[in-house]
Amino acid sequence: MIKAIIYSSSTGFTEKYANLIGDELNIPCYNIKQKNEIKKELKMNDNIIYLGWICAGKIIRLGKIRKKYNIVCCGAVGAYPENEKYIEELKKANNIYKFPLFYLRGGIDLNKLGFWKKKILKMVADGLENENKAENLELINALKNGGSFVKKENIENLLNYLKNIT
Ligand SMILES: Cc1cc2nc3c(=O)[nH]c(=O)nc-3n(C[C@H](O)[C@H](O)[C@H](O)COP(=O)(O)O)c2cc1C
Repeated sequence: MIKAIIYSSSTGFTEKYANLIGDELNIPCYNIKQKNEIKKELKMNDNIIYLGWICAGKIIRLGKIRKKYNIVCCGAVGAYPENEKYIEELKKANNIYKFPLFYLRGGIDLNKLGFWKKKILKMVADGLENENKAENLELINALKNGGSFVKKENIENLLNYLKNIT
C-alpha cells in the first residue's frame, strides 16, 4: 500500500502534479519541507511516491528520500520536452535502477525565480537559440517568457503503472 506522496517543488509545478496524483489515488501529499508531518505520518521504509523537480539533470532531494523510504515510483518534473533518450539520461544521472521513473513536464515561472536561476535559464535559452532548431522554439519561449506544460494527461502513465502493480 502506498502511504503518501512526498515532493520537492521550487516554483509550484511539481506541487501541482503531486496534488493531481494525490487526488486520483486518495493519498496525502507532503512537501519535503513538512518535516514534522512526514515524521509523524510515515515510518522508515514505508511505500511512497516521490516527485522532484529537475535542476541541471538532478532530481532534487531524491538521494535523501530514497535512504528513508521505499520509493514505488518517481516522477521527475522538468521543463524540457519529454523523450525516451532524456528519460534514460535522467535515470543514469540519478542512479535510478530499482523503481520506474516517469517524466512529468512542468514549466517555468520567472516570477518565482531568483536572479541567478533566471540568469542560468537565459543562458540556456541563448545557447538553444544559437543551435537554430525549430523543435527548440517552444522551450526557448518558455525559458524566456515563462509558461506551463502541466496537463492531467501527463500523469496517466504513472497512474497506469500503479494500477497494474496493485
Ligand atoms: C537552475 C535551473 C536548472 C534547471 N535544470 C533543468 C534540467 O536540467 N532539466 C529540465 O528538464 N528542467 C530544468 N529546469 C526547469 C525546472 O525543472 C522546471 O522549471 C520545473 O517545472 C520546476 O518545478 P517546480 O515548479 O516544482 O520547482 C531547471 C530550472 C532551473 C531554475
